[in-house]
Amino acid sequence: MKADVLLGLQWGDEGKGKIVDVLTSKYDIIARFQGGPNAGHTLEFDGIKHVLHTIPSGIFHKNVTNLIGNGVVIDPIIFRNEILGIKKTKIPTSTLLISKKAHLILPTHKLIDAASEKAKGKEKIGSTLKGIGPTYMDKTGRNGLRVGDISSPEFKSKYERLKSKHIQILKFYDYEYDLSEMEENWFESLSMLKQFKHIDSEHYIHNAINQGKKILSEGAQGTLLDIDFGSYPFVTSSNTITAGACTGLGIAPNKIGDVFGIFKAYCTRVGSGPFPTELFDKVGEKIGKIGNEFGATTGRPRRCGWIDIPALKYAININGVTKLMMMKADVLSGLEIVKACTHYELNGKKIDYLPFEDNSNLKPIYKEHKGWDMDLTNLTDLSNAPKQLNNYIKWLEEILETPISIVSVGPDRTQTLYK
Ligand code: GDP
Ligand code: IMO
Ligand code: MG
Repeated sequence: MKADVLLGLQWGDEGKGKIVDVLTSKYDIIARFQGGPNAGHTLEFDGIKHVLHTIPSGIFHKNVTNLIGNGVVIDPIIFRNEILGIKKTKIPTSTLLISKKAHLILPTHKLIDAASEKAKGKEKIGSTLKGIGPTYMDKTGRNGLRVGDISSPEFKSKYERLKSKHIQILKFYDYEYDLSEMEENWFESLSMLKQFKHIDSEHYIHNAINQGKKILSEGAQGTLLDIDFGSYPFVTSSNTITAGACTGLGIAPNKIGDVFGIFKAYCTRVGSGPFPTELFDKVGEKIGKIGNEFGATTGRPRRCGWIDIPALKYAININGVTKLMMMKADVLSGLEIVKACTHYELNGKKIDYLPFEDNSNLKPIYKEHKGWDMDLTNLTDLSNAPKQLNNYIKWLEEILETPISIVSVGPDRTQTLYK
């Protein structure tokens, strides 16, 4: 048996949480492989909306195991709040397992994140300020604290050692802070983390694969936020791509099965950085309003623009996408023209790839498609969809050379059409 992967092909918030929840009944294990509470994965069913940050989006299905993999970074405070939120729904959380190798976000990681962003001024990344960058820096710098360390007698001394290093960094930034309340809350919250099974998750995954269990690996963020292949430095600090599922769970590359690539029928970005197809007009405003484009983690408005084919092709290649899923098709209803960027112009030359050079100078070249004017949110079958939407889907499949298997027409679990 091979493990499937589901991940975002744009700048995050494509609708990963919704689709993981939709697909969960087909799997035995749902496993998050990277990122941390910078993620906000929204699920809607039975009239209730849930936003998950660290916990895999399969948690609302009783008979499925959910695993937080070694590639994830965990803030015990946010984790505790998430568990308390899920407990309110009466869904048991005992199906959740946590890798001993997952790294911990310390209160001082969050302070360094804020200090670093402040120091960057106008050049800031637009971080979610959840301490992600500094925590991954300590991971690769070989200083980090891991879930498996919590029960060690040296935990407190390791914590103090790392904290004093962080205090030196904060001094360098000349950053003012009050740590005491954050720290108290953090240590209190550890007790919730301790209630869950901490496991050697790579062994668990290997056994599961050998036993023929079905695994879905859930990505966070999106390919264009990948630390290596995203719009650096305006990226997150982990590998958000399929390779990240290998390192973030211990899955060998030849054990990867289907790769589901999720994208919006348009494009959004939250935080700073280049966005060649960004719209600054009434159409962009309309998409943001109808699409309710506000960050699920920070509440910040998301920048909106047209779909970007060269960027999507790039993401499909890097991830080895086998099936595409198009989200939020309903949001484009009522637009006379739907545009899709097929090339860029850079210094008078037409190119069809994302160059290393400053992407903020790329001028998009568009193909225009006829729009559709029908409320799609109650649609149950794509054969009843407007001709123009089906043409748009067909055109995308051809140009992206990959089949689209799901078209989403609303935030609810049920608003999902299969092709
Ligand atoms: P994720 O981070 O990829 O899980 O995505 P987010 O949850 O951050 O953002 C996606 C937003 O779009 C959420 O508010 C979802 O409820 C919503 N959503 C998902 N699919 C659809 C869809 O097909 N149509 C509409 N209108 N909203 C959707
Ligand atoms: P999900 O999983 C959208 C963005 C931030 C910022 C950059 C770096 O919900 O799709 P970080 O906090 O990681 O240091 O921020 O990455 N970012 C996201 N944007 N969706 C996300 O997650 C994101 N996680 C981080 O806005 O630009
Ligand atoms: Mg999100």
